[in-house]
Amino acid sequence: MHVVHVVGARPNFMKVAPVLRALSNRPGVKQTLVHTGQHYDTNMSDVFFQQLGIPVPDVNLSVGSGTHARQTAEIMTRFEAVVVERKPDLVLVYGDVNSTAAAALVCAKLRVLVGHVEAGLRSFDRTMPEEINRLVTDQLSDLLFTPSQDGDLNLQREGIPREKIYLVGNVMIDSLVQLLPEVVQRARNGFPKRYALVTLHRPSNVDDSEVLKGILRSLLEVIQDLAVVFPAHPRTRQRIAEFSLNTGQLRLLDPLPYVEFLALQRAATVVITDSGGIQEETTYFGVPCLTLRNNTERPVTVSLGTNVLVGHDAEKLRAELANILDGKAKRGTVPPLWDGHAGERIADILTGSSVRRRFAPQGRCTLRTVLKREG
Ligand code: UD1
Repeated sequence: MHVVHVVGARPNFMKVAPVLRALSNRPGVKQTLVHTGQHYDTNMSDVFFQQLGIPVPDVNLSVGSGTHARQTAEIMTRFEAVVVERKPDLVLVYGDVNSTAAAALVCAKLRVLVGHVEAGLRSFDRTMPEEINRLVTDQLSDLLFTPSQDGDLNLQREGIPREKIYLVGNVMIDSLVQLLPEVVQRARNGFPKRYALVTLHRPSNVDDSEVLKGILRSLLEVIQDLAVVFPAHPRTRQRIAEFSLNTGQLRLLDPLPYVEFLALQRAATVVITDSGGIQEETTYFGVPCLTLRNNTERPVTVSLGTNVLVGHDAEKLRAELANILDGKAKRGTVPPLWDGHAGERIADILTGSSVRRRFAPQGRCTLRTVLKREG
């Protein structure tokens, strides 16, 4: 069985690593890693490959940045040629970035089986580009690997047959668990003892100057009570400069490598973020998380974990922060199957007999027959 994995942006890398590792010791499995090049800065990409022990990609499509249409189209054009040339039996796509949806669309058109890792998450907010990517990818996927039961329910509600859905747990937590010994050892020299760790990059938070200004104002209030550590995404840094916003005493750091960032999360007094994955990592660590969004596609982090949605409500942020500083932070538990073994479960399913039978099911043309028909 030849499996092609497609990754492109920072949050994909910690998801592919455990699946690659789990499949690497299964007999008869050949793997090819494709990096679309959606993220290309060393500190947004290369350093994650090194720390996660991911091999150098076999193919780099080097698409770079662009509008959504341009980036998606460029990934499709370049990835189609790879699929035609390499003839995989299965393509695995990860998460909800543009690279995920673009690759799934290519596979659906070429009628190559596609599996979506981290399927079924829904914010029910179609203004988020990621929500569009999730909807499209899940509709086109043949195998849907979900991190939590809400994912299964969302998919079934959208008419996806039960037999395509596999509840496997959270692959990103696999990477966290694997690197935990290093994370625990990592010295945090130069960082304050108590601090709020901040990340911000959603278009809805940073692309509108008034919204971004409001968030920075709130952070400048936080800094009166608690030090702020703020590794800034390139997009956020660009917008702050473009809108000539005042960051006052807020010191912006460059994006941090994965192990360093996890170490900072684990020891934070509170994490303030609009990221999806960080809502999950803080829940695993039991660290309070205040999410600068009105919704989340990861509701278990709110129902079971430490996450609280504060949206753009400065008053709510203030009140929640005061609770945390008073020692009254929300306590949480780790959701089921967030145990470090999701990648192994995916490998078990892919190499099990029920899935293997589906590589050339009756009535469905294989890649080879499509290519022959198209000359
Ligand atoms: C993408 C994902 C988002 C994910 C985020 C994590 C989509 C639609 N969005 O958003 O879901 O949470 O990655 O980071 O796929 N840039 C650089 N260097 C890089 C990459 C980007 O400078 O290595 C700058 C570019 O100016 C680019 C901007 O950041 O235009 C945004 O990058 P892009 O890949 O379009 O989306 P992200 O905001 O990173």
